[in-house]
Amino acid sequence: MEIQFLAEENIPEELRKAMDAIDHVAFAADQDDPELAGIQWSSHEWMAVGLIDGKPVTQLCLTRREIRVGDEMVWVAGVGGVATHPDWQKRGLASQLLRATQPFIRDEMRVPFGLLICAEATRPLYEHAGWQRVSQRLYYIQEAQRRHLDTQVLILTVTEHPWINGEIDVCGLPW
Ligand SMILES: CC(C)(COP(=O)(O)OP(=O)(O)OC[C@H]1O[C@@H](n2cnc3c(N)ncnc32)[C@H](O)[C@@H]1OP(=O)(O)O)[C@@H](O)C(=O)NCCC(=O)NCCS
Repeated sequence: MEIQFLAEENIPEELRKAMDAIDHVAFAADQDDPELAGIQWSSHEWMAVGLIDGKPVTQLCLTRREIRVGDEMVWVAGVGGVATHPDWQKRGLASQLLRATQPFIRDEMRVPFGLLICAEATRPLYEHAGWQRVSQRLYYIQEAQRRHLDTQVLILTVTEHPWINGEIDVCGLPW
C-alpha cells in the first residue's frame, strides 16, 4: 500500500470523489446513532490516504487545534474519519495508516499529541497502534454552546511530553 499525506486543497478531484465514497459507505451506520445526532463535525486540513493500484482503500483526516486540558492549553493533531473501504477491511490497512501518521504528527504538524474519539468497539484498533484512552467525555463548542459527548477519548504521545490529566475541551467543533 502506498501512503500519501495531502493538504485538503491539493486533493485531485477524482481522488476526492473516491474518498468521499469511502467516507459515505463506512459511516452510513453512524447516521442512526442518537449519541451523534445533531453534531456538526470540524473541517480538516490534511488527509492521510492508503492507495492500492492507485485507488484509495483506507483514509483518515487530520486537523491541528489548540485545546484545553484542565487549566492548560495544548496543541494536538485531531484525527477523524478513520475509514477503510468495506472490501479491504480486516487486513491491517487502517493500522498501517495509523502507524504512518505518527511521524507526520510529530514532524510535519509539529504537535506533541494526537487526539481522537471512537466507539468502545474500535478502541482496540487504536490501542494496538499505540493510542491510549485518557477520558470518556469530550467537551466541545457548537453554535456558541458548550456541549459534551460521552465517548472514548484517546491520545497518542509522539514526543517526550507527558499528557496532563484534566477535562478535555476541544474549544470548537469535534472531529
Ligand atoms: C474501523 C475500521 C477503520 C478498521 O479498518 P481496517 O482496515 O479493517 O482495520 P485493520 O485491519 O487495521 O484492523 C481491524 C481489525 O482487524 C484485525 N486484522 C488485521 N489484519 C487482519 C487479517 N489479515 N485478518 C484478520 N483480521 C485482521 C486487526 O487485528 C484489527 O483488530 P483489532 O481492532 O482488535 O485491533 C473499518 O472497520 C471501518 O472503516 N469501519 C467503519 C468506520 C468506522 O467505524 N471508523 C472508525 C471511527 S472511530
